[in-house]
Amino acid sequence: MKIYVVYDSEGDHTKTLAHAIAEGAKKVDGTEVFLDHVSKADIYKLPDMDAIIWGCPGHFGTISSGLKAWIDRLGYLWAEGKLINKVGAVFCTTATTHGGVEATMLNLITPMFHQGMIVVGLPGNITANALYGSYYGVGITCPVESSSIIPEEGLELGRALDERVATITKDLTRTKYGDRQ
Ligand SMILES: Cc1cc2nc3c(=O)[nH]c(=O)nc-3n(C[C@H](O)[C@H](O)[C@H](O)COP(=O)(O)O)c2cc1C
Repeated sequence: MKIYVVYDSEGDHTKTLAHAIAEGAKKVDGTEVFLDHVSKADIYKLPDMDAIIWGCPGHFGTISSGLKAWIDRLGYLWAEGKLINKVGAVFCTTATTHGGVEATMLNLITPMFHQGMIVVGLPGNITANALYGSYYGVGITCPVESSSIIPEEGLELGRALDERVATITKDLTRTKYGDRQ
């Protein structure tokens, strides 16, 4: 099964989180993960994917313009129903705790619902999520004065998101791949 992680990032915070997310699926056998900055992400690869995870820095409480412009190129996939029933999940970084991290994730999820995707968040039985996380995806606050670009618990949540996406996608695509996964 194939998972595509697409991210926007200007200062590497969201890029670092995207890399942690891409790592998480390695725990689930039979998963191939593709990872691209939005400037290189190929919309024509999407119909071949089983799951799509996209994320960005929060810009004024919503999707960064780079990722939004890319999402707005997916109209032809909507018209042909090509993303229906693909698993989707989202992630985001902001500079401040109340700087719009969850608002941005809700905005990131909305186009997935329009595409007919099956959106997956993170549940409370993941300890790090109950303590530091969000139910809408992975939203991490990265204060400018912080010594690490992303705190370790943020990377842990990133890995947990992709592992969850891979596990659910594996179940949903069992008929498609049979024993090959
Ligand atoms: C145009 C712009 C708007 C931003 N708006 C917000 C905001 O509303 N709230 C916030 O906490 N951070 C805001 N930030 C900061 C980024 O979301 C934050 O630094 C993020 O982690 C950067 O991710 P990156 O290094 O992947 O680009 C903004 C940054 C830019 C450039």
